[in-house]
Amino acid sequence: GYTAKINVAIDGPAGAGKSTVARQVAAQLGYLYIDTGAMYRAVALAVMRRKLPLSDEEAVARLAEGLQIELRPGSEGQQVLLDGEDVSRAIRTPEVTKRVPQVAAIEAVRRVLVNLQQKMAAGKGVVMDGRDIGTHVIPNAEVKIFLTASVEERARRRYEELKRTNAHLTYEQLLHDIAERDRQDRERLTAPLVQAPDAVLLDSTGLTIAQVVERIVQICRRVLDEG
Ligand code: DC
Repeated sequence: GYTAKINVAIDGPAGAGKSTVARQVAAQLGYLYIDTGAMYRAVALAVMRRKLPLSDEEAVARLAEGLQIELRPGSEGQQVLLDGEDVSRAIRTPEVTKRVPQVAAIEAVRRVLVNLQQKMAAGKGVVMDGRDIGTHVIPNAEVKIFLTASVEERARRRYEELKRTNAHLTYEQLLHDIAERDRQDRERLTAPLVQAPDAVLLDSTGLTIAQVVERIVQICRRVLDEG
C-alpha cells in the first residue's frame, strides 16, 4: 500500500464508460468514487418535481443551494440521497436524462455543485468522474484521464445495457440522443466538456472495461511510486 493519496479526475462524453471504470479504479486503489453526473441529475430531478421553469435560473439556483445531496457507496453502485430520500433510480429516467444538460448549463447550479465536489476531494483519495473535473473541480489532480469512445460504440454499449428493460428503444434513437447530449455538453458556455491540456487521452473503442481500468491504475501507481 501507499501512505500518500492522490486525486484522480476522469472526464469524457456520455457513454464512454466513465462511471463503471471510475468505480473499479476506486475499488482497486481503496479510494472513494464520486459520480458528479449523479449530483447534476439530482438537481434536475428536484427542478422537475417542483415544476420550476428552467428559464428561471435564479429560482433553480436557489433551489440547488438548499438541497442536501449525498453520495454513498451502495450494493448496486453509488447510492444518491436527495434530502435524505434514495433517488438512485429516479435520477436515471429518460426524462431526467433529457433535462439534465440544461440544468448543468446554469452557472449558479455549477457553482453550488463544484463547491460541494471540491470539499469532497479536499482530503485526497477520490476518483471523481464528470465533464469538468480535471479542468475546473480539481485542476491540481495528480492523475487526469479523458476517456472517450466513438459515438457509435457508446450508443451500442448503451443499447446493450438498456434493451433488456426497454423494448421500445432503438439503437438509432440512442445514437441521436447521445450525439445531442455531447453537443450540449461541449457547446455550453460554462465549463464545457473539453480535454484538459495535461489529461491523458484514453480511447476505449475496442478495449474491455478491465483493460481501461488496468491502464488507469497503472498510471496512478506510476504517479504514487514517483512520490
Ligand atoms: O454522466 P451523466 O450522464 O450522469 O451526466 C449527466 C449530465 O450532467 C450530463 O448532461 C453532463 C452533466 N455533467 C456536467 O455538466 N458536469 C459534470 N461534472 C458531470 C455531469
